[in-house]
Amino acid sequence: MSTMFQPKKERFNNPLIKNMCEYQDLVAEFENDFEGTWAKFADEKIDWFKPYNKVLDESEAPFYKWFSGGEMNVAHQCIDRHLETKKNKAAIIFEGDNGDQKILTYRELAYEVNKTANLFKGQFNIKKGDRVVIYMPMIPEAAVTMLACAKIGAIHSVVFGGFSSEALRDRIVDAEASLVVTADGAFRKGKPYMLKPIVDKALEHDCECVKNVCIVERNGEDIHWEAGRDYSYNELIKSQSPKCEAEPMESEDPLFLLYTSGSTGKPKGVQHSSAGYILWAQMTMEWVFDIQENDTYWCTADVGWITGHTYIVYGPLAAGATTVMFEGVPTFPDAGRCWKMVEEYQINQFYTAPTAIRLLHKMGENEPDKYDLSSLRILGTVGEPIDPPAWKWYYEKIGGSNCSIVDTYWQTETGGHIVSPLPAATPIKPASATFPLPGIIAEIIEEDGTPTEVGEKGFMCVTKPWPSMIRNIWNDPERFKKSYFGDCKKDGQPVYFTGDGAMMEEDGYITITGRTDDVINVSGHRMGTAEVEAAIKKHDNVASVAVVGKPHPIKGEGIFAYVVLKSVPMAHGDDIADELETMKEINAVIKTEIGAIALCDAMIFVPDLPKTRSGKIMRRILRSLAKGEEITQDTSTLEDPSIVDTIASKM
Ligand code: PRX
Repeated sequence: MSTMFQPKKERFNNPLIKNMCEYQDLVAEFENDFEGTWAKFADEKIDWFKPYNKVLDESEAPFYKWFSGGEMNVAHQCIDRHLETKKNKAAIIFEGDNGDQKILTYRELAYEVNKTANLFKGQFNIKKGDRVVIYMPMIPEAAVTMLACAKIGAIHSVVFGGFSSEALRDRIVDAEASLVVTADGAFRKGKPYMLKPIVDKALEHDCECVKNVCIVERNGEDIHWEAGRDYSYNELIKSQSPKCEAEPMESEDPLFLLYTSGSTGKPKGVQHSSAGYILWAQMTMEWVFDIQENDTYWCTADVGWITGHTYIVYGPLAAGATTVMFEGVPTFPDAGRCWKMVEEYQINQFYTAPTAIRLLHKMGENEPDKYDLSSLRILGTVGEPIDPPAWKWYYEKIGGSNCSIVDTYWQTETGGHIVSPLPAATPIKPASATFPLPGIIAEIIEEDGTPTEVGEKGFMCVTKPWPSMIRNIWNDPERFKKSYFGDCKKDGQPVYFTGDGAMMEEDGYITITGRTDDVINVSGHRMGTAEVEAAIKKHDNVASVAVVGKPHPIKGEGIFAYVVLKSVPMAHGDDIADELETMKEINAVIKTEIGAIALCDAMIFVPDLPKTRSGKIMRRILRSLAKGEEITQDTSTLEDPSIVDTIASKM
């Protein structure tokens, strides 16, 4: 599909960027006066407590500093400053799994956040800079907790509720968190599920840093209470004062950590700043989602991922919008759930992942016909490339061929969108994230900075710093430099490399071609193959393993493991039954070590892996085999070239 789709201008009353000329003017403004233009936006958007004295400090590059000397507070930016004009506007509309609803106005949100902030300060002695791990379901208290941390200057680290106790422990320990906020559990597909037992297990050892666990009641199931450590949020919150001054935060004070997979085993704690992060969250919210005063915006992500941080909580609230939070799953009670919600809440912007679109398309192709979706103006996608059939269904069936699709390309590390269409301005080509947003100097280059030829794959880099960029990897500045500034240079200076490949067409349209490292993208979630391999190796009978991505019709990429066992399993004396048993055991280990999100979609046992004489596993060959491709690579450098045919014969 190379057809171009023009924006439906009549659907936009007052967009901030009205057409491509305005886009180009803004790009030029940044080009002519990079810092001055950023300063203009920072002055206009942020309610500063104290003005900054330097826009961009590059003296310790790549540890860039933005708006140094300035003081502000993200919770104030997201809530308090709106109270004068929007106190009775819905800030968060919550819909539970079973359809229960709760609306928090900006005034009510301020009330809850202040009480929670006082609880953290008074009862748990949380001070500015302390780390708070949030392991919560998709309930308003998750957002309230994040904002309460921001209000008092504590650094939150939200851990996705699908991670196992081991993964949770790793993150708690790395951040040296002193408080964990969780819930008894929540509801999924009409049934209660539990979170607190996972926290209990995580805290069984090595977590001396954790002094308290604060538990929000959601599903009312019985849980264990550890005397002196565990406290009920619902009980303690009652007696807290609803007044709490916002802690003045330096622009560069960390707002949060969010752990993400890299190409080595250990997840990295991506550290974001306060002022720069919220500035870009708000600007992209306004530009890319064209948020208008009366709009209702819904992003289906989980707060455990960056999309949930920037585009459920911080971006929408900073922009003074109404954001929907949904506890349930899109296919329960049927594949029309999302469309029913769009009709009911008259959603104007709907933002989801291609995985969800593919699933909803497959499970309920005609479900959208049952609902009135005419309120929709903008449809967003994020997390992975969107394939043409999914795009077409989204555009035609959900958008009624009358919405702009914004294919937003970004990452945990970028804080917000970096390449994305502008809904009222950009003519869309399906599967292209189109152009870099103004202010983001995104370029496709070779390692040495040479621009890649039109139509050729290159490295997707951002060659100038931007305000919402990652500031550090928690506790590991060396890894920060190596991970992001080690591969590509421009004019001899290291530049930020995303880890993705990309391609540009003659007219400048950018297509993201996927990761160039050993990170795979499962249902729009980043999974380091090394992380999954490390988990699999914990099974007693595993000698070695290699994990690769394999195209998957719904998930985008699935996890494919080649496992070499130490000894052939012989529990039943039946090869197939024994192999299946071992596969189950290996998946159980993955579930314990990481969580169900990392379970293998396919696994085969092989006598050996294709290795070079120096012992390096040739993953390219394994990737090709998993895809069923013919092996065209040179196998003569392998220690045992025949292993390729042996593996191929088992596929
Ligand atoms: O490979 C890119 C892919 O998702 C990666 C970032 O994953 P994560 O940090 O978990 O954040 C996901 C949500 C922002 C990127 O390196 N990716 C993200 N958006 C797109 C995408 N690939 C293609 N098109 C996109 N729109």
